[in-house]
Amino acid sequence: MDGLEKLRKKYLDLINKDNDQNSLENLRVTVLGKQGELSLKMRELGNMTPEERQATGPILNSLRDEVTNAFLKKKSTLENLILNERLKEEWIDLSLPSRKKPNGSIHPISQVTEEVSAIFAEMGFSVAEGPQIENDWYNFDALNIPPEHPARQEHDTFFLNRDGGDDRAPNVLRTHTSPVQIRHMLSNGAPCRIIAPGRVYRCDYDQTHTPMFHQLEGLAIGKDISMANLKGTLEEFCKKFFEVDELELRFRASHFPFTEPSAEVDLRCSWNDGKLEVGKGESWMEILGSGMVHPKVLKAGGIDPDQWQGFAFGMGIDRLAMLKYGIPDLRAFFDSDLRWLRHYGFSSLDQPNLHSGLSR
Ligand code: PHE
Repeated sequence: MDGLEKLRKKYLDLINKDNDQNSLENLRVTVLGKQGELSLKMRELGNMTPEERQATGPILNSLRDEVTNAFLKKKSTLENLILNERLKEEWIDLSLPSRKKPNGSIHPISQVTEEVSAIFAEMGFSVAEGPQIENDWYNFDALNIPPEHPARQEHDTFFLNRDGGDDRAPNVLRTHTSPVQIRHMLSNGAPCRIIAPGRVYRCDYDQTHTPMFHQLEGLAIGKDISMANLKGTLEEFCKKFFEVDELELRFRASHFPFTEPSAEVDLRCSWNDGKLEVGKGESWMEILGSGMVHPKVLKAGGIDPDQWQGFAFGMGIDRLAMLKYGIPDLRAFFDSDLRWLRHYGFSSLDQPNLHSGLSR
């Protein structure tokens, strides 16, 4: 018995002194492990007489429980100590200002595309898309521009090379968004009401022309859609886009192969110190081309021109952006000059949408 009491003292003492997780675990194994001192002692119970066992058994059991508990307690004490040390070192000052991240801005073209889409979406137009590499049927023939038509030359088209021996007409970089009209008619039929914003390409370069620019196509087809609807739609659009209540549009007779009749649309405006004022003044500014969809174009789109009719228009998104936000040179749009982007760019937190002020 005295022996056991000594053992108890010894173990508790060792546990008490040990302040290292690893050596504590080693100690536990040498005491309580399979071959541990205390485990061997317990095994000796088997060789005792029943009386001895009755006397020693409970003492050994409670010794083992006590030592086991002492280990567990010390273990969690050590864990707490270590955690507290870490917490003392790894603290975060939540009151510190965060690191500055450079803020990107939204390009005026993206902004205007969103603005325009939001305005037309409110009038029931959905957005359609088409590829930027077109074959000449979609870009020209289906739009009533046959191969010998002068419009083919006027477009300053970029042609793509065919492999030697392939004598099909070359594909083109689309010169306007009008081929999306055909694609949409063929896949969706009539009636329809769509806009198609996107990139277009023409070989041209000066202050108001770049080889790649952006257009917005519009197409509405129904049983009785007329030129009056076109006018109403465009007036509504211009009022919202230029954020004015009063405005005057002038429809000037023009010619496009894919519309009949065709009209170019001018906006009454004035220029004060280089700043555009929309709605009043003595100047007119051309903003888009439009007309009633030519019966041949409807036919190419798989739509019966005896049953359906509609209007189409095409405008330059870049030009709209230049006018609305007073940006003088188109070429700078595509220079990727960060100073320009910071100056003319828009906050990403201030995006136009259907319930923003745009759709008053
Ligand atoms: N596609 C014409 C252009 O690029 C614009 C337009 C579209 C005109 C639709 C009339 C109807 O100039």
